[in-house]
Amino acid sequence: MYESWEALRADCLPCRACPLADTRTNLVFGVGSETAEVLFVGEGPGENEDLQGEPFVGRGGKLLDKYLAAVELDRHKNIYIANIVKCRPPHNRDPKPEEQAECIRWLREQTRLLRPKIIVCLGRIAAQKLTDPDFRVTKQHGQFIEKGGILFMGTFHPAALLRNPNQKPDALEDFLVLRAKILEVCDHTYTD
Ligand code: URA
Ligand code: SF4
Repeated sequence: MYESWEALRADCLPCRACPLADTRTNLVFGVGSETAEVLFVGEGPGENEDLQGEPFVGRGGKLLDKYLAAVELDRHKNIYIANIVKCRPPHNRDPKPEEQAECIRWLREQTRLLRPKIIVCLGRIAAQKLTDPDFRVTKQHGQFIEKGGILFMGTFHPAALLRNPNQKPDALEDFLVLRAKILEVCDHTYTD
């Protein structure tokens, strides 16, 4: 249990608990407001994230920022963004179950400090790890489920939207549903 983000970050940054430590340039801890009520979770850093040490800074990240802006969310103001694994899997392969199992402790500690009201899972990997091992994005996107006092919703991964632009209207709909849920359950997301 951590009392502060500083203490958690200091313990996380040198982590070598799984083999992804050997191939990373930078560990990607997370970005955003440390008092955010809404946490977004991706699967793991890609090449740009590995080089810059920040989540979602490549083409997918630019697209994510557009969806966020459409519902008045901003990675530097009123949300927090992190990943299931903090170090880049080589060649952007999916993080292995054992890598996810090692790394999830850091996301757990981040979640404990943040105490978010809502967690948005970006893509299948995050949704399956955090909500339901059988989660299907195409079937279950935009649906909220409650777990341990937190509302979880899964939506499309921005990289998937770049590959399948026909899914963009559904993704925007998910963000509009998210906005409505924030207005319903959050206290300061839209006044921060
Ligand atoms: N994809 C992810 O899942 N996370 C990132 O941070 C970047 C790309
Ligand atoms: Fe540690 Fe996670 Fe990086 Fe593996 S991916 S070395 S568990 S921080």
